[in-house]
Amino acid sequence: MSAPAARPHRDTIIVEDAELVARQAWPGEQYVLRLRAPGIAARAEPGSFVHLSCDADRPMRRPLSIQRVDAASGEIEILLKVVGAGLRTLAAQPAGTRLSCMGPIGHGFVAHRERPRALLLGGGVGMPPMVFLADRLSADATTGWRPLVLLGSEVPFPFRPRPSTILVPGIPAGVIAAMPLLEELGVPSRLASRAGLPGCHAGFVTELAAEWLAGLDAASRAEVEIFACGPTPMLEATARVAQRFGVPAQVSLEEFMACAVGGCAGCAVRVATPAGPAMKRVCVDGPVFDASAVFPPPA
Ligand SMILES: Cc1cc2nc3c(=O)[nH]c(=O)nc-3n(C[C@H](O)[C@H](O)[C@H](O)COP(=O)(O)OP(=O)(O)OC[C@H]3O[C@@H](n4cnc5c(N)ncnc54)[C@H](O)[C@@H]3O)c2cc1C
Ligand code: FES
Repeated sequence: MSAPAARPHRDTIIVEDAELVARQAWPGEQYVLRLRAPGIAARAEPGSFVHLSCDADRPMRRPLSIQRVDAASGEIEILLKVVGAGLRTLAAQPAGTRLSCMGPIGHGFVAHRERPRALLLGGGVGMPPMVFLADRLSADATTGWRPLVLLGSEVPFPFRPRPSTILVPGIPAGVIAAMPLLEELGVPSRLASRAGLPGCHAGFVTELAAEWLAGLDAASRAEVEIFACGPTPMLEATARVAQRFGVPAQVSLEEFMACAVGGCAGCAVRVATPAGPAMKRVCVDGPVFDASAVFPPPA
């Protein structure tokens, strides 16, 4: 993958009438939706998201990460977990429904070639950007990317885990559950859960990440960069792991969003900058930020 350069957001976000092509239900009120949105599919980058209408009568859209794109068919895939009324309405829409879709929004993840060992951590509905990034890295033959994806969930995963056929040194032998799609892409993955799911690490993804990092020698560790999306405590734990092992990390934040195009400042968060603390909008300045800027090392 050519590492995507940070790009301005103006004139890059479009609105299109997306057709809901397919809808797959998974336990825990999780749904994978495929939408035909060719303009967005052509422009999306790992870490970018859409601001999607749940139905024509509900004015507030919902921000949802892009999990996969197929530029040839013009389709994007999203994973949603119902929280309240908006996503419940969206999840109930039948195939064929047209939904207003705004996107792709935000600055995504930027992978650096000098650190080909990309460690991707996804928790819950933070999994989609990691799947997208792994897909892009595996498709890029110009760099010898060596991604490892660790996914965590406290409800059954929104796919059927299967034992991995890809050996990952440094991961305990019993931790073998993997995501089939990533296996097919040739990308090693492992799963973590405290819900007693078979073949999973019984704990958090960040613990598994720390165990893997601890097993690397200094030269290998110097090739690692961490990318993470998930609940805030997971992102903070990611920042601490990165600081402990001295590797850079990027995290994708979630905030309540109204406009999602930078106009209302409703999604602003405090981040550290070289000029001191500053308020940044998660929708267009993020959602991906340097982990240490959001979670500075403890004094
Ligand atoms: C950049 C980004 C990417 C996201 N990606 C995904 C994803 O891939 N899959 C997924 O399931 N969820 C994702 N979310 C979270 C998702 O947007 C919220 O869970 C959803 O908006 C809740 O809507 P609701 O109608 O179900 O809940 P309600 O509680 O009824 O929503 C009420 C209002 O609160 C806002 N809201 C509630 N919770 C959140 C939240 N955590 N973040 C932002 N706004 C919130 C909604 O926008 C809405 O305006 C993402 C959020 C952001 C900011
Ligand atoms: S949601 Fe309005 S500025 Fe980010």
